[in-house]
Amino acid sequence: MSDLLWQKPGVAVDAQIQAFLAGDDVVLDREFFLHDIAASRAHAQGLQRIGILSGDELQGLEVELDHLAADFRSGDFVLDARYEDGHSAIEARLVERLGDAGKKVHTGRSRNDQVLVATRLWLKEKLARVAALSRETAHVALARAQAEQHLPLPGYTHLQRAVVSSAGMWWAGWAEAFIDDARRALDTLALVDANPLGTAAGYGVNLPLDRAHTTAALGFARMQVSPIYAQLSRGKFELAALEALGSATLDLRRLAWDLSLFTAAEYGFVALPAQYTTGSSIMPNKRNPDVVELMRATHASVAAARTEIEQLLSLPSGYHRDLQSSKGAIFHGFGRGLAALELLPALLSNLEWKPDGMRAAMDAGMYATDVAVEQAAAGVPFRDAYRAAAASVQQAGEGRTPEGSLAARVSPGAAADLRLDELRARLEGLQVPGT
Ligand code: ARG
Repeated sequence: MSDLLWQKPGVAVDAQIQAFLAGDDVVLDREFFLHDIAASRAHAQGLQRIGILSGDELQGLEVELDHLAADFRSGDFVLDARYEDGHSAIEARLVERLGDAGKKVHTGRSRNDQVLVATRLWLKEKLARVAALSRETAHVALARAQAEQHLPLPGYTHLQRAVVSSAGMWWAGWAEAFIDDARRALDTLALVDANPLGTAAGYGVNLPLDRAHTTAALGFARMQVSPIYAQLSRGKFELAALEALGSATLDLRRLAWDLSLFTAAEYGFVALPAQYTTGSSIMPNKRNPDVVELMRATHASVAAARTEIEQLLSLPSGYHRDLQSSKGAIFHGFGRGLAALELLPALLSNLEWKPDGMRAAMDAGMYATDVAVEQAAAGVPFRDAYRAAAASVQQAGEGRTPEGSLAARVSPGAAADLRLDELRARLEGLQVPGT
C-alpha cells in the first residue's frame, strides 16, 4: 500500500486492522472517482485564486488530474488496494508526478468534505437519471393510454372483478405515477444540489477559500453554509435520494405485480416479447416472466439501502467512520434501481394486450355500477338504483357475457374522461438537467 496520508513516524500499522478499516472502500471509491478528480480540480483552482498555488502549479495539477481521469477511464490506472481510498490515490499520483505541487493540493481540504462533494455530484447525476427514466416511462404510458383508451380491461378491487375499465385508464394511472416520481427525483436533486467542498473536516479552516468559485465550477446551485451541518447532512441526503428512487421502484414493484398476474394463463391479458422471458431447465413448456420478477425485487434492495443508512445515522455530531458504510448502500441501491428502470420504457412499449383474454374475463355484472349511476343521473335515488342493479345481477347469475343488453348501454372504459391533455402538460413541464 502507498503511504497512508495520516501515518505517524515510528508507529507501525497492523495489516489485519488496516484491512478491516479499509474493507471494500477503495473499490467502492471507483464509482465516484471521476467526480473526486473533478472536485480536486475545482479545489486546486480555488487555491490558486487565493495565492496558495502559483499559476504554473495549478496548470501542472490540472494536466495531471486530466491524465489521471483519462488513465482511469481507459483502465491504465486501476484504483485498488495499493491505496487506502480514492482520495489518497489522487494525492499519491499528484505527488508522484509533480512533487511539491501535489503535496499542496490537500491544503484546506479534508477527506471528509472530499467524500461529501463526490457523493453529492454522483447523486445529482443518478437523480437526474431517475427523473429522465421516470419521464420516459410516463411518456410511453401516456402514448399507450391515448391509443388504447377504448380497449376494455377488467378493473379489480380486492382482486375480484369490479367494473369494466380500459387499458387506457390502466396506462394513464402509470403515466401519472411516473410523472410524480420524476417530480420527486427533481425536487430531491434540488435538495442535494449544494456544495460541501471547503467545509474541511466539519469545522472549516482559517483560509479565505474561494467557495463561490468551487460552487460555480462544479455546477452546484448553492453552497452548504455551515461546516458542521455539511457533516450532519451526510446520510440524510443519501436517504432522501434513496426515498426518491424508492418512489419510482415502489411503483415499478406494483406495475411488475400487475404484469406477472396479467401474463398468467388464468388472466391471459398480456403477452411479453420472448426476450423478456426465460425458460425452465426441466419443464420444456415454460416461459417465465423473470425480467418482471426481478424488477419487482428491486425495491427490496432500495429499501435495504435506506434501512442500512438509517441505522448508521445513530451518531453524535461530527464525522464518524461509521458514515463510510453509507457508500456501499447507495451504490447498491441505485445500481439495482436504475438497472431496472433502464429497461422499463422498452418493456412497456413492447408488451402486447390479448383482447380476447380481457373480454373473456368480463361479465355483465361488471356493468352494474354504471347502470346504477346512469339511473341516479336520471333522477332515481342512488340507493334505489343500486338495489335494482344488484337484483338484476343476481337474476342474471354469474358468468353472463357483456354482449347482452347491459353492454349495449355503456361504452366500456370510455365512460371516464382520462384527462390525458392534463397529464401531457405536466409531463412537458418536467425539466430534467442534461436532457
Ligand atoms: N472513506 C472515508 C468515508 O467514506 C473518507 C473519509 C475519511 N475520513 C476520516 N476522517 N477517516 O467516510
